[in-house]
Amino acid sequence: MTHHHIALIPGDGIGAEVLPSARQVLEAVGARHGIGFSYTSYDWSCERYVREGAMMPVDGLDQLRDKDAILLGAVGHPGVPDHVSLWGLLIPIRRGFRQYVNLRPVRVFEGVESPMRGAVAGEVELVVVRENVEGEYSEIGGRLNRGFPEEMAVQEAVFTRAGVTRVLDYAFGLAARRGGRLTSATKSNGIVHTLPFWDELVAERGAAHPEVAWDQEHIDALAAKLVLAPARFDVVVASNLFGDILSDLAAAVAGSIGIAPAANLNLERDFPSMFEPVHGSAPDIAGRNVANPVGSIWSAAMMLDHLGHPEAARDVTDAIAAVFATTDERTPDLGGSATTTEFTEKLLELL
Ligand code: NAI
Ligand code: MG
Repeated sequence: MTHHHIALIPGDGIGAEVLPSARQVLEAVGARHGIGFSYTSYDWSCERYVREGAMMPVDGLDQLRDKDAILLGAVGHPGVPDHVSLWGLLIPIRRGFRQYVNLRPVRVFEGVESPMRGAVAGEVELVVVRENVEGEYSEIGGRLNRGFPEEMAVQEAVFTRAGVTRVLDYAFGLAARRGGRLTSATKSNGIVHTLPFWDELVAERGAAHPEVAWDQEHIDALAAKLVLAPARFDVVVASNLFGDILSDLAAAVAGSIGIAPAANLNLERDFPSMFEPVHGSAPDIAGRNVANPVGSIWSAAMMLDHLGHPEAARDVTDAIAAVFATTDERTPDLGGSATTTEFTEKLLELL
């Protein structure tokens, strides 16, 4: 029996409501495949920030370091500025553990109606590969002349050859394994230093992966095309900011942001990788047991895959697909009236 020690960080709002669903699914699928899990839970959250002045303890990363993976719900609470919750927990984990690939699959499931007529089940199955530790989300910059009319803010985007190359190589490799094509998100017409550099590196890595057909699109046009013709895309590789925006957009095209999962991967496995739904803490629906748990459950499936259990992972994604295709169990974001608990129970029944 294989055994994994998982760090659980439920976080805030619906994060704490959807993470138990993921854990129940892990238990069920683990029992079938001979995979055992033990868990350590952490109360790191905005609630902790309000109580103790920090999202996580100073030695937070050290507490996580020896775990096999991290499963996170979501963080964010009205009253705590979003940059505090993000930079106090998520971003330090992503950066400190060199989780430089953020992988976000998007799929239109049979039985889930997309708001877009053109997005049909079986045709739309793409994955956004987002650079996760540098780019536009850099710590370089500052504020000057605070409070005066000439007050100013500067934030530098940072693109390194090593950082861009490793995420591109992952994306090209993924496209090769999927037998698919790759699209690079750029804006090298308007942003004249970093994105022409990005384009050069894409061409370089493209030449090193001759088996993959690739092209590039400016981010504005790409956003429109993802809405109008999502089936055209397979692997979309993007910088930190562009990938963040595109993956929410693509998730909405697939029916709801509540179903979208994400993996933050340290490919070298020097550190634990982190798995979390794309959505946030959704304070508007928190505490009512109506959140869609699919993003969290699918993230757990990505974790199984990363831990070397692709069959178990497939069982989970098949069960998600089966609930949508064969039942009318839906949470309110997908037009139904099922609670988080009811949806999870139905999924466990079909698993
Ligand atoms: P959000 O993703 O929390 O919510 C956006 C909209 O989608 C809301 O109407 C919400 O009800 C709905 N929604 C999201 N997930 C859902 C689910 N599983 N089931 C049903 N409906 C769902 O994004 P928002 O409102 O911009 O941010 C709320 C808080 O979450 C903020 O504090 C933000 O900073 C934080 N946040 C945290 C993230 C994380 O922890 N990874 C990611 C994004 C936002
Ligand atoms: Mg986002």
